[in-house]
Amino acid sequence: MSDAFDLIVIGSGPGGYVCAIRAAQLGLRVACVEKRETLGGTCLNIGCIPSKALLQSSENFNEVQHGFAAHGIIVDSVKLDLDQMHARKREVVQANTKGVEFLFRKNKVTWLKGEGRIVGAGRVSVAGTDYETKAIVIASGSESTPLPGVAVDEQRIVTSTGALELSEVPKHLVVIGAGVIGLELGSVWRRLGAEVTVIEFLDRIVPTLDTDVARDFQRILEKQGLKFRLGMKVTKAETTNSGVNLTFEPAKGGDAETLTADIVLLAIGRRSFSDGLGLEDAGIARDERGRVQTDEHYATNVPGIYAIGDVRVGPMLAHKAEDEGVAIAEILAGQAGHVNYDAIPSVIYTWPEVATVGKSEDELKAEGVAYSVGKFPFTANGRARAIGNTDGYVKLMADKATDRLLGAQIIGPDAGTLIAELVTAIEFGASAEDVARISHAHPTLSEAVREAAFAVEGHAIHI
Ligand code: FAD
Ligand code: NAI
Repeated sequence: MSDAFDLIVIGSGPGGYVCAIRAAQLGLRVACVEKRETLGGTCLNIGCIPSKALLQSSENFNEVQHGFAAHGIIVDSVKLDLDQMHARKREVVQANTKGVEFLFRKNKVTWLKGEGRIVGAGRVSVAGTDYETKAIVIASGSESTPLPGVAVDEQRIVTSTGALELSEVPKHLVVIGAGVIGLELGSVWRRLGAEVTVIEFLDRIVPTLDTDVARDFQRILEKQGLKFRLGMKVTKAETTNSGVNLTFEPAKGGDAETLTADIVLLAIGRRSFSDGLGLEDAGIARDERGRVQTDEHYATNVPGIYAIGDVRVGPMLAHKAEDEGVAIAEILAGQAGHVNYDAIPSVIYTWPEVATVGKSEDELKAEGVAYSVGKFPFTANGRARAIGNTDGYVKLMADKATDRLLGAQIIGPDAGTLIAELVTAIEFGASAEDVARISHAHPTLSEAVREAAFAVEGHAIHI
């Protein structure tokens, strides 16, 4: 038996590292177990950060080829240096993972290197040593969901991890799953020159978006050259020397087809990861989808053991994991930690971006809630015209009787930044009229948010 801690966090992703830092700030003696060589989990190492680095680089490459001429900037020849693009991505990742290491030192969080295993309430074993602790927080994250018949080798058939590391631009990339990963990483390789076909089981893309927003998003992506095969079920993937033969058929029945790809990206969702933690031996219950089961205060059925982030229920988003990390640290320190799950934004970092918060119109319909909708297109926004990005709109939903904002969906330039105002509005229980009456700087994209709020009241000014 070695050192004793107040808290041992297992996993150093956005849930785990934020929890460890917040708990240390509140005076707890904290250790965080991480088996990866670097801190930061999926998000910093193989998720949010490297994908956003490549999205930015590929967007720059696309702009210089297709966007600059309209501004009167003529660039005669453009060359891709993919090795440099990857090198920059690695530097960005390293700056972030080293940043977490620095924050651990600053806040006196001990990094226990190796795989953590719960060997009883209050005991965690790491690399042959047992550590005693008053509380354990499981923050072990998630992994790519497998698909029978499609064997991932991270060379020809890749998950997002392999798709972030391709050493050549594929001639034909076939993506299975028109969700967030498929569309973000499909966009990266499309912009760099690949032909990209996305095969989706449902008859629409991104099931979490409103039907109209998803349809308009699909049209914009199609204009960029992405091809979609909706309502299709992949049945088999055969790897050859030169690529992959992928067989699929209509989900509702029909003739099978085969597509040849040099790379297949499997992106049909992620699932809770808790292998090797010793959950069975510790008697920790899981739900029907294998997620660690907790109550609303993140407590598992075993006293002193908690879970946060992707490993438990809820959207698999870095900021949701972080929010839960802060909340559980505060609860353990005797405070009233809390997360408002009605005000968690979600952003797809394609171009244009797509951002949502609160209820979708489809959900409100299904729940029988009476609501008003206000929509304002970026074609009518001066700044959007000036920057040359007028695709998309802001769509707001407010309670018909009280005008309280219930949800927002934005498709358009910088939607991920614009959504923050609406997250704040929903968090503070604002009405659409409140948003419409707030002064918004001119000329900014944020004026489209204000105009959509005016539109809820039936009187947008600029349309
Ligand atoms: P994770 O980040 O998965 O971290 C878990 C950590 O626990 C891992 O480092 C793992 O090694 C470690 N671990 C597991 N078991 C043990 C053990 N027994 N002992 C020691 N260590 C262990 N979300 C967003 O909000 N925005 C985005 O832009 C975004 N982009 C993404 C892009 C991609 C390609 C992917 C795959 C995901 C993306 N996500 C994004 C989702 C985001 O990465 C996750 O929601 C987030 O990382 C979850 O955080 P977490 O702390 O729960 O777990
Ligand atoms: P996803 O859940 O976003 O999308 C999966 C898609 O695959 C869905 O459209 C689904 O209908 C489809 N699908 C499921 N089974 C299928 C099958 N057998 N054949 C064809 N299609 C099938 O999952 P994705 O894209 O893998 O991402 C996982 C999670 O990672 C996201 O849900 C999100 O939580 C997180 N993430 C977040 C990002 C962000 O916030 N910008 C970026 C990337 C990932």
